[in-house]
Amino acid sequence: MIILPALEQDFEWIKVIQSEAGLPLWKPSSASWVLERSAFVIWQVAGDECELLSIAVNAHERGKGYAKALMEHSHKELAKQGIKKFFLEVRENNTAAISLYKKFGYEKIAERKKYYADGECAVVMNLILN
Ligand SMILES: CC(C)(COP(=O)(O)OP(=O)(O)OC[C@H]1O[C@@H](n2cnc3c(N)ncnc32)[C@H](O)[C@@H]1OP(=O)(O)O)[C@@H](O)C(=O)NCCC(=O)NCCS
Repeated sequence: MIILPALEQDFEWIKVIQSEAGLPLWKPSSASWVLERSAFVIWQVAGDECELLSIAVNAHERGKGYAKALMEHSHKELAKQGIKKFFLEVRENNTAAISLYKKFGYEKIAERKKYYADGECAVVMNLILN
């Protein structure tokens, strides 16, 4: 699996995956990685914290460990930059994503009721590295 920093032009295929997955359209930031035009992760960094803005895998290539590889890689790279606090929010019914995040040690810290336009609640999770 080849993981590379995302380039501006990757947004062309990233936005297709985002819209097919019903996700908001986030452009790659300076802390974003892609895996073989099949999967991506986009973070927003602020000081020693960062927030996961978007992660998705092409629907035909899920279950192959791509998201796990991207999370591992980005945690390692972000930790090298001195980032210790990782935050994210996820739809409460997104069991695949919640299971992925828990594997990395993320814990639920809050709930946002009716956060999404369709009335679904958001779960806020974080991971603090020592
Ligand atoms: C969530 C998502 C990114 C997972 O990507 P993936 O490449 O299929 O995940 P992986 O193969 O790396 O699996 C890693 C872990 O995620 C969890 N997981 C993945 N798919 C799952 C499923 N269908 N059901 C339950 N858990 C699942 C498991 O814990 C898995 O670990 P395991 O293989 O040891 O059981 C993918 O399903 C996706 O793109 N979903 C649509 C977009 C989305 O919801 N993004 C998150 C919100 S921004």
